[in-house]
Amino acid sequence: MLTLTVNGKNYEFSGDPTTPVLWFLRDELDLTGPKFGCGMAQCGACTVHIDGVAQRSCVLPVSAAVGRKITTIEGLSEDGDHPVQKAWLDNKVPQCGFCQCGQIMQAASLLASNPTPTDEEIVATMSGNICRCGTYPRIHKAIKAASKSIAGVEYYTPEKEGENA
Ligand code: FES
Ligand code: FES
Repeated sequence: MLTLTVNGKNYEFSGDPTTPVLWFLRDELDLTGPKFGCGMAQCGACTVHIDGVAQRSCVLPVSAAVGRKITTIEGLSEDGDHPVQKAWLDNKVPQCGFCQCGQIMQAASLLASNPTPTDEEIVATMSGNICRCGTYPRIHKAIKAASKSIAGVEYYTPEKEGENA
């Protein structure tokens, strides 16, 4: 029996210890924010935080997550009010939405370790998160907005972009 900590709560798992964390989250806990895209750590749709750092849950066995804090987008904030989530809404980032939970978790991890990333750092960090809908420009804009928000600068919205440029 394994004990896994997800979004601040402990859960028991008695299945195969090689089961990917993604399937434990989705099938056992009904946390469907993390998505299955490729199953090969190639797309980022399944991204969660492990001890606060973005990781691909499709290739992480549950046995490797014991004793660590797993956070899904459902646990990123109390009311969807994490600065990255707010910036995503303000900038109307999603199109179909499939990749977006992974994108947000990757961006939140980036800003937690580097609150004011350069454009190059954003591109490098987000390059492993694929969006078939091509929302990359809005993703980039939203990360810049969240960065400004976290840094305490007046909150950035598309309407204010012209004023702040
Ligand atoms: S489903 Fe995990 S990276 Fe694609
Ligand atoms: S919004 Fe459709 S795949 Fe990214």
